[in-house]
Amino acid sequence: MDHNIAKIRHDYHLKGLREQDLNADPLKQFRLWFDEAIASGIFEANAMLLSTVADGRPSGRIVLLKDLDETGFSFFTNYLSKKGKQMAANPQAALTFFWKELERQVRVEGWIKKTTDFESDEYFSIRPRGSQIGAWVSAQSEIIPDRAYLEEKTREIDTKYEGMNVPRPPFWGGYRLIPDYIEFWQGRPSRLHDRLVYTRSERGLWEIERLSP
Ligand SMILES: Cc1cc2nc3c(=O)[nH]c(=O)nc-3n(C[C@H](O)[C@H](O)[C@H](O)COP(=O)(O)O)c2cc1C
Repeated sequence: MDHNIAKIRHDYHLKGLREQDLNADPLKQFRLWFDEAIASGIFEANAMLLSTVADGRPSGRIVLLKDLDETGFSFFTNYLSKKGKQMAANPQAALTFFWKELERQVRVEGWIKKTTDFESDEYFSIRPRGSQIGAWVSAQSEIIPDRAYLEEKTREIDTKYEGMNVPRPPFWGGYRLIPDYIEFWQGRPSRLHDRLVYTRSERGLWEIERLSP
């Protein structure tokens, strides 16, 4: 065992989380915590771990939360990427946020739906031109020969759309995770953390329970 690693240890003491502090709607509660994370100046507070599963094998990667409404959490990517293929095969996923400066974690689970073309177009249109071109250049998750290949393809696409708006590639767009499970975790001393979880019943009502840390 590497004892230097084993000795890394921090106690959490900033805050607690009580049932009476929670909003009855977990998306409103998420918004409160998210706004606090932004207000605290956390770098990339909208970065989240997206976990997908296909053929029984999990796969995780960070993506950026780009929209939050009363139905769920939206992010954008390449529909033909590894994650895109996994979500096509199994439209369930998990999102994990870790805001270490606030000693907080949020875990979200639910079902995945593509955003509408209108929503994907709208978000694509406000991306910087370089990112729009990058979306055309990258056959995300495919093997490529070298860096020069990307640079050459970027020049090609740049020339193709010179003086024009870059259209959204048909293979690029958004997904929305529609949650049925959201857990709010607040670090507490001696590993006796607070864990309050919302689960959605079949009738669409949210129930709140406390889990053992
Ligand atoms: C901070 C951060 C933000 C990222 N945001 C996105 C994103 O919003 N969309 C995306 O497709 N990839 C994003 N990535 C890259 C992904 O982590 C990943 O490399 C890529 O999507 C390919 O994943 P896949 O092969 O599992 O499909 C981000 C990476 C980091 C570290």
